Amino acid sequence: MKHFSISVIAGDGIGPEVMREGLKVVEAAEKLHGGVRFSYESYDWGCDYYLQNGMMMPKDGLDQIRDCDVILFGAVGAPEVPDHVSVWELILPIRRTFQQYVNLRPVKLLKGLESPLRHKTHDDLDFLVVRENTEGEYSNIGGRLHEGTPYELAIQNNVFTKFGTKRILEYAYTLAKKKQKKNMTIATKSNAINFAMPFWDEIAKEIAGHHPEIETNIYHIDALAAYFISKPEEFDIVVGSNLFGDILTDLGAAIVGGLGIAPSGNINPDFHYPSMFEPIHGSAPDIAGKGIANPIGQIWSVAMMMDHLGFTGLGELIIQSIEEVLQEGLVRTPDLGGDSSTVEVGDAIVHKFKQLS
Ligand code: NAI
Ligand code: MG
Repeated sequence: MKHFSISVIAGDGIGPEVMREGLKVVEAAEKLHGGVRFSYESYDWGCDYYLQNGMMMPKDGLDQIRDCDVILFGAVGAPEVPDHVSVWELILPIRRTFQQYVNLRPVKLLKGLESPLRHKTHDDLDFLVVRENTEGEYSNIGGRLHEGTPYELAIQNNVFTKFGTKRILEYAYTLAKKKQKKNMTIATKSNAINFAMPFWDEIAKEIAGHHPEIETNIYHIDALAAYFISKPEEFDIVVGSNLFGDILTDLGAAIVGGLGIAPSGNINPDFHYPSMFEPIHGSAPDIAGKGIANPIGQIWSVAMMMDHLGFTGLGELIIQSIEEVLQEGLVRTPDLGGDSSTVEVGDAIVHKFKQLS
């Protein structure tokens, strides 16, 4: 019997509502597999915790979860707490301390959903975006000078290390092999960002050279953004720096059906630290407490977690269950045009999962 421990941080707003449905799927997967046990520890960190204690998590919070196998995260954010506090004091410390240097997002149009790109089908929209998650443009190095004067200036440094650049590109190629993908697309802007990006390109070409069986294209980010709309069928795996990846992943979510369904993984591929899986949406204060949040982003994050832990078959079965429920079209939350509740959608997916297995 294999055993995995999950740290559950449901967070704020709709976080706990969608997390409940995600955990139902974890339980169903455990029953189906038979040879695996998942145990959870829940942490009440987030904005309520902040309002009571003046911090988003306890001082030794990271140590409390350091030894678990994986983190399942809901969403954080509340109107009473500034967003830079909730993000910089909870999510970013987890991503950085645990070297979750890959942010992985599937851009996959699920069966039963339509893309806003009128002529694109499910076959056209099915690729993975790999975003560097620890350095690059989001470096926190820089400063402001002469504040309040006409000479005021701001400098924000980009940080690209050989180590960090190599490991994200190598991860992308390893993923391509694992998923039997043939095509690698690398985002750059070496025509205008003339130190960091030529450096990135040199390393990219070196690593691409080790993988001649995979076709590699290096595109400037502006053209690449346009190709996401005009020819998304060309992509298998797309890899980019922190900023480029951030923008591409939101664009990717938009072309396959929106915020409520999109999942993500913050991955430490070495397994030295726990990886973290979360829907890409926030705490949605406008619908929190109404029981109508779409739980699919959270449930799909559970599928990614299963894949990461080596249960790829379970992950695929979860995605198939989501797709069949969407195709039947009977149970949908309002963001997808239905009138079902969060719990109804969660129950329908669990029911389908049991039927299929
Ligand atoms: P949001 O993602 O919370 O909501 C944007 C819009 O999408 C809202 O109209 C919301 O109702 C809708 N929406 C989001 N998730 C949905 C779901 N599962 N089902 C149905 N509708 C859904 O983004 P917003 O409003 O910009 O931010 C709200 C708070 O969340 C802020 O405090 C922000 O900082 C935080 N946030 C946290 C993130 C995280 O925990 N990783 C990511 C993004 C925002
Ligand atoms: Mg983003």
